[in-house]
Amino acid sequence: MKLKTLLTTTAVAFMGVAAQAQTVGFSQIGSESGWRAAETTLTKQQAEERGIDLKFSDAQQKQENQIAAIRSFIAQGVDAILLAPVVATGWDSVLEEAKEAEIPVVLLDRRVDSSDDLYLTAVGSDLVHEGRVAGEWLVGAVGDEECRVVELQGTTGSSPAIDRKTGFEEGIAGHDNIEIVRSQTGDFTRAQGKEVMESFLQAENGGQDICALYAHNDDMAVGAIQAIKEAGLKPGEDILIVSIDAVPDIFKAMADGEANATVELTPNMAGPAFDALEAYWADGTMPEKFIQTESKLYTPEDDPAGEYERRKDLGY
Ligand code: AHR
Repeated sequence: MKLKTLLTTTAVAFMGVAAQAQTVGFSQIGSESGWRAAETTLTKQQAEERGIDLKFSDAQQKQENQIAAIRSFIAQGVDAILLAPVVATGWDSVLEEAKEAEIPVVLLDRRVDSSDDLYLTAVGSDLVHEGRVAGEWLVGAVGDEECRVVELQGTTGSSPAIDRKTGFEEGIAGHDNIEIVRSQTGDFTRAQGKEVMESFLQAENGGQDICALYAHNDDMAVGAIQAIKEAGLKPGEDILIVSIDAVPDIFKAMADGEANATVELTPNMAGPAFDALEAYWADGTMPEKFIQTESKLYTPEDDPAGEYERRKDLGY
C-alpha cells in the first residue's frame, strides 16, 4: 500500500474510534488522603464533561486489587486504563498484558519501575523536586540553628515516599546543623500520622528535642499537628511543620499559625491524561512519556485563609 493511502486509512481508523464514546478504566489506590479524594472527584468530573464512560475501581491500598482491576478492564476491552500505582514495583506482567491487548495505560501521580514502553505516558509532578523544595524551605527557615527533624514517610515502596525522601535529603545536604533523627512511615493517612508523631514525641523528650516535622503529605502533617497540641506544644512555633500536597486543611492550619509550608501537588491529573488520550485516539499522536505538573511552595505569606476558601469545595 502507498504511504499516503496507509496514512489515510490509519487516520480514518483513529477517527472512527474517536467518534464513539470512549470507555476508560481507572484503578485508583484508595482514599488514604484528602488529596486522593480530590483526584478521584476531579477524574470523575473530567470524564463526565468529556463524555467518557469511566469505570472506577477502588483498590483499598492493595496492589493485588489493582492488578485484578486492570485484568478486568482488559477483559472488558476498555479504550484506555488510568493507573495510580500504590507501589513502584511489580507491574511488568499486567502492563505487558495491557500492551498485548493494545490498550494504552496512563500512569497518574505515581511512577512505576517498569520499562516506559509499557505505558503511554505518566502524568505527575517531579516528586524529588517536591522534597527538595521542602528541604530548602527548612534550610532557609532555621538558618544556622541546630535542627533535629522527624520525618513521616508515605506508603512504603511508593514512588512519592522514595522520591520525597531523596529530595528532602538533597535539599538539606551540606547543612550539618539539620539532621533527620527519626523517620517512619505514616502510610499517607491522618490517623497514622498522628500515631507515629505521638511515638516521636515520646521518644524525643516530649517533643522538646524536635525542631521540625517533615511529612510526605499534608494529611499526616494534620494528624501530627493534633498529636503535638495534645502533648502541650505549639505546632508551627515549637515544632516547624513542612509537608506536601496543599490541601485545604493545611491552609486552615497555616492560617491558625500551626503549619509553616506546603508544596502543592495538583489533584487534576485527569485533565492532562484525558487530553493526551483524546489526541492519541484522534490520530495516534504520541504524548511525551512524562507530562509534568507544577509544584508550588506555599507559606503563611500566601494568603492561607484565602487558599482555604478557594479550595474547600473542590472535592478534597
Ligand atoms: O501520590 C501522591 C500522594 O498520594 C499524595 O501526596 C498523597 O496525599 C497521596 O495519597
